[in-house]
Amino acid sequence: MDENCYEERKPLIFAVDDDEINLLLISRILGEFTEVRTAQSGTEALNYLAENSVDLVLMDYNMPGRDGLETLKYMKHSRAEMKNVPVIILTGDTDLDLETEVFRSGAVDFIRKPFVPMAMQERVRRVLQNEYLKRNLRREVDRQTKLAREQAAATARLFDETVLALAETVDAKDPYTKGHSLRVAEYSKHIAALAGRTSRQQYDVYCMGLLHDVGKIGIPDEIINKPARLNDEEYGIIKSHTTIGASILKKIVDFPQLTLGAHSHHERYDGKGYPQGLKGTDIPTEARIIAVADAYDAMTSCRSYRGIMEQSRVRYEIERGIGKQFDPVFAAIMLQLIDEDKDFQMRGQLTENEA
Ligand SMILES: [Fe+2]
Repeated sequence: MDENCYEERKPLIFAVDDDEINLLLISRILGEFTEVRTAQSGTEALNYLAENSVDLVLMDYNMPGRDGLETLKYMKHSRAEMKNVPVIILTGDTDLDLETEVFRSGAVDFIRKPFVPMAMQERVRRVLQNEYLKRNLRREVDRQTKLAREQAAATARLFDETVLALAETVDAKDPYTKGHSLRVAEYSKHIAALAGRTSRQQYDVYCMGLLHDVGKIGIPDEIINKPARLNDEEYGIIKSHTTIGASILKKIVDFPQLTLGAHSHHERYDGKGYPQGLKGTDIPTEARIIAVADAYDAMTSCRSYRGIMEQSRVRYEIERGIGKQFDPVFAAIMLQLIDEDKDFQMRGQLTENEA
């Protein structure tokens, strides 16, 4: 074994024995590949270890005062760094029970006196090597964990940015809906938070809100931007943005629930919506949240066919839609938000952010 393979520097050994001759012997046996410091009692050893870090402790079992086993137990129950320092117990005792107790108390090895120099060197090398590998493994695990976390964060960021870019692409098709998807996403997240949903659920509904109208990518611009009333055929085409959106988002297989908002945000609580005519709680929760947020934003935004509605009128329309167009719980939260928004800041702030 390469004697220096475990560390760049010489390992620091701390030898504890009340017999000075033994300490001298240990220094001589291990001195060629380690640096040896010494102490002559358990108490002296603990004082030293409280202040200094060492790579390995060699400790005599039989010492006056605090013996080796007691010192070892103290070290292993300590909260300080000394807890992790490997300890080899030295003894001339032949008691087999003692050997068991020494290992149970946390020692890594056991060396009998009189010392056999080569055997002692090999045992010390082996312990140092193991410690070095353990430390390296820990370092490597930490490094890989940090790397994995950074990569996951970068992927999440990339996903968020892509979703946002996609949402802006949709909104760009209609000059009247600039920022609509982002606002719907923010309102939806806010409603979900007030409804006691977890932060993961809030994030999900936020993403679904951002992409709820993604299917409009597949609708011709002249229909989306038609200033006059849509005929039945055109209205049918507009309605298909829900199913088109769902089939686009189905491609994101790692986030299957993303389709829910796009597919079902035009369902109505009374079952008169589209595309499936789902009713009540058969409509996915996220879609029921987005439906209220979507309606609020549509009413508080300028459209080609009308200006911005009065806040009181918006409130009235949402209240009127409870149990018909809207889920009563989420509509009530929207009303609460409107009532708290005395200066009509909710829409304003988001418009500024998106500008
Ligand atoms: Fe829509």
